[in-house]
This record gives sequence, structure tokens and C-alpha cells, in this order.
Amino acid sequence: MRILVTGGAGFIGSCFVRRTLERRDDQVVVLDALTYAGNLENLDGLAVDEQQRLRFMRGSICDAAAVSRAIENCDAVVNFAAETHVDRSIDDPAVFLATNIEGTRVLLDQAARKGVRYLQVSTDEVYGSLGKGGRFREDSPLRPSSPYAASKAAADLLVGAYAATFGADVVISRCGNNYGPRQFPEKLIPLFLSNAINDEPLPLYGDGENVRDWIHVCDHCDALRLILEEGDAGQVYNVSAGCEMTNRKLVERLLDLVQKPWSLVKFVDDRPGHDRRYALDSSRLREQLGWSPSIGFEDGLAETVAWYRDNREWWKRVKSGEYVTYYRKLYGERLGGVAAPSRNKGRQGG
Ligand code: NAD
Ligand code: DAU
Repeated sequence: MRILVTGGAGFIGSCFVRRTLERRDDQVVVLDALTYAGNLENLDGLAVDEQQRLRFMRGSICDAAAVSRAIENCDAVVNFAAETHVDRSIDDPAVFLATNIEGTRVLLDQAARKGVRYLQVSTDEVYGSLGKGGRFREDSPLRPSSPYAASKAAADLLVGAYAATFGADVVISRCGNNYGPRQFPEKLIPLFLSNAINDEPLPLYGDGENVRDWIHVCDHCDALRLILEEGDAGQVYNVSAGCEMTNRKLVERLLDLVQKPWSLVKFVDDRPGHDRRYALDSSRLREQLGWSPSIGFEDGLAETVAWYRDNREWWKRVKSGEYVTYYRKLYGERLGGVAAPSRNKGRQGG
């Protein structure tokens, strides 16, 4: 099979590409715009073998000509390409709507025209926030809170519309918070790990009691492969390892693993519209497709911590450039009570 993987230089997309090339005979075409979050280093070691099974093309999913070149001879499309960070979507929603909605539309047009299977990699954030009890099912209403989540929900609706109107062969996955190697250090785990390793402050939003549903990135990618191959056309599949945790508890675990003190944690103003709790019911995926996660949270987290400890150069490079400018602004606004120079240094990771 020849698969077009959009956003394949990002955190989850690169894991999917790695697993595909390591475990299958498939060919992969990566189309990635290399935004601040895209990193060719994430595909290191996979570059090219003698069969040229990996082809990289720099381009945007919003560019129909680029998509048309990339999709040629492909049998399937897996769309990871997106703007993904909630805080950024609060500061500047426009690019989220462009990439996440219009980009999805461009991909759907061409996948439908070619008649190839299309997998939309979506998120639990489309369902909005849960109280203490219950879990989201695939038929739960979509109530996105952030511009990021709204753009992903809009894309999901578009995917459904292309199935209904044009008979497109589509599937949608909705997963919770991923963790693992190569995640951009703006997200909670890599940001806090890299800051803690450098003895820099950890800005915990609100009361730290928000709950996220964590899964190792490799388990997510294995579920995606199964959904791509065996998912029913038009169906949505929740993906969850059933690992709910408050941010406070998670940060305690992280600090234990890097042997750093809780005093690094600074409670800061809450994220506007901050969803309180996510939890997914993934029984459809488990019962109909036979998926189950294989990486326990304690093992996965310890392995992730070791990766960030062993790959300082990776995250130091990633934390430079445009990232610095962005976080200088964000840190200035959010981290009250800490002197400006160390604030900036903390978020930039120096
Ligand atoms: P990421 O931010 O690490 O990577 C996104 C990738 O998309 C980058 O390589 C970037 O360069 C590329 N990209 C951005 N705009 C593009 C464009 N216009 N054209 C082509 N490429 C573009 O994101 P991630 O965490 O790997 O997430 C991948 C997908 O999975 C996203 O669709 C996200 O919504 C979804 N998802 C993420 C999580 C999570 O916990 N990270 C959970 C559920 C779903
Ligand atoms: O649930 C799936 C989603 O998970 C994906 O769709 C998103 O692309 C991905 O970014 C992630 O969204 P979150 O907003 O949950 O992830 P983030 O790492 O930004 O935050 C996790 C939790 O930690 C959240 O409750 C906010 C909190 N947080 C985050 C940061 C960056 C802090 O307390 N401090 C921080 O500095």
C-alpha cells in the first residue's frame, strides 16, 4: 500500500510513519508544510532506503496543486496535518481555521475524486468538557470550547458530509492526550520535562485539577492503522487507553521521575475556556476492531522521560527560533509573580 501521510513530520504523524516503515512493506509519501511544529529530524533514520519507500514533500494541505502531486498513486490518506496547540488558537485562531478546516476540505476533494480511503485524525476535544462522571461516546454531541477544538469539530462534520454527499470512503478517529518522544515542547509533558531538567518554572494552569485521558503515541498509531484498514466506512472511533489523570498528579509523577522538587511548580492564571475533564469510551474500537493498548502508563512515561533526558539537543533546537518569540509573549501575560528574565528563560528553555 502507498499511503499519503499529511503532517508526517509532526509528533504523532512521524510516529505513524516510523511504525509503518518499520513493520510493513508499505510506501509512504509525507506532505508537511514544516510549520514551527514540523521537524524533519522527527523522520531521522528513516530517510531513504534502497526501495525509496519514504518520500518527503514540503507543502500545505491547503494547496490543491501540492496535494494533487502528493496523492498521485496513493491508496489511502491519513490526515495528521493541523495546527494543534490550544493556547495558540486562543491567541490567533485564523490559521487554525485555514489549516484544520480548509486544508481538510482540499484533501477530501481529492481523496473523494480518486476514491481512496481517507482517515481524519481527530480529537476528544471536539466533545467539549465533562463533569466528574461519564465518558464521551462517538454519538455524544460536539461542544468544542476552544478555537482549536471548534476547527477540528468543523473538519469532522465536513468529513461526514463528504461521505453522505459524495460517497467518500472516510473514517474518523478521536483520541485523547498523547505522550511520547518527539512531542513539541509547548505541550504539558515535554514543556514541563524540559523546564524541570533545566530547573526552570512549571506554569500549572488554574488549580491543576483538570483531567486528561492519556495514551502513548505508539498505541494511538496502532489504533489508527487498524481503523484505516478495518474501520467501517463513515464510522467514528474513539481511541483511549482509559488512563485519566489530573494535571497535578501527572506533574507529581514527572517531578519524581526527574527527581526535581515541587517548588518548581508555579500556579498561573487558567487557560480561557479550559475544559475540565476529558474521558472517552472506546468500546467500539475495542469490541468491533479488537484493539487494546499495549503500553502501561508508568512504563510509557518512564520511557518518555528517558527520551527527553537523552535528547536534550533535540528539544534545545526545537525550543529556539519562532518558539522563543511566542512564549516570551505568553509567559509575560500568564506567569505573574516571577521576574521577567527568568520567566522568559523558563518558557524558552534557553
Ligand atoms: P504537531 O503539532 O506535532 O504536528 C502537526 C504537523 O502538521 C507538523 O508537522 C506541521 O508542520 C504540519 N502542518 C501544519 N499545518 C500544515 C499544513 N497546512 N499543511 C501541511 N502540514 C501542516 O501535532 P500532533 O500532536 O502530532 O497532532 C497530529 C494530529 O493529531 C492533529 O490533527 C491533532 O489534531 C491530532 N490529535 C493530537 C493529539 C495530541 O495529543 N497531540 C490527540 C488527538 C488528536
Ligand atoms: O485531548 C487531545 C488534545 O490534547 C489534542 O487534540 C491537542 O492537539 C493537544 O494539544 C492536547 O490538548 P491539551 O490542551 O489537553 O494539551 P496541553 O498539553 O496543552 O495541556 C494539557 C493540560 O495541561 C491541559 O489541562 C492544560 C494544562 N497545561 C498545559 C500547558 C501547556 C498547564 O497547566 N500548563 C501548561 O503550560
